[in-house]
Amino acid sequence: MPKIAEKVTVIIGDIVVQTVDAIVNAANNSLLGGEGVDGAIHRAAGNELLEECRKLGGCPTGEARITKGYNLPAKWVIHTVGPIWRGGMYREDEMLYRAYQSSLELAQKYDIRSIAFPAISTGAYGYPIEKAAGIAVRSVLDFLRETDKINNVIMVCYNQTAFHTYSEALLQYSRQ
Ligand code: APR
Repeated sequence: MPKIAEKVTVIIGDIVVQTVDAIVNAANNSLLGGEGVDGAIHRAAGNELLEECRKLGGCPTGEARITKGYNLPAKWVIHTVGPIWRGGMYREDEMLYRAYQSSLELAQKYDIRSIAFPAISTGAYGYPIEKAAGIAVRSVLDFLRETDKINNVIMVCYNQTAFHTYSEALLQYSRQ
């Protein structure tokens, strides 16, 4: 397996307990919290996270913003907004690809070496998980080919199905 893909691992777990430099939040445009990953991260980080998010003025889909991690083991939270799946005719693939790229660009800017992603857009935002997994892996591998600053990317899946799908996607794209 080429060196690049060795920097990426897929696990089953809860993103809030990951002991990495930064965890990525699957947020919405308001950045004011929600359910799923968003709810779990805000609950684990504590109220100071919401206080800092309030000052950010939201985040467009496909972009990312960074805050401190507060009570989380991770030092940073990178909030990104994935696209809502609307059938594939509204540049969803491009927006999802951008969400991973924007998060990694921010991570690099902040000298973050290890980062954990959830399966962005595959929950409340309804993205078909096979498509989302392929886009996620392609975006991460494309970014890692351009830089050696980030040396550990963890895709944190919340269930067996997601774990299998993201593992398959990583295997497939790392062969290319
Ligand atoms: N750790 C890791 N993965 C998790 C966790 C967790 N604690 N909780 C949920 N997941 C998984 C879900 O199973 C799903 O596969 O994260 C994936 C993304 O699901 P969502 O959190 O619903 O995120 P998304 O589909 O991007 O929708 C974002 O939901 O919570 C709101 O405010 C958020 O409006 C935004 C929308």
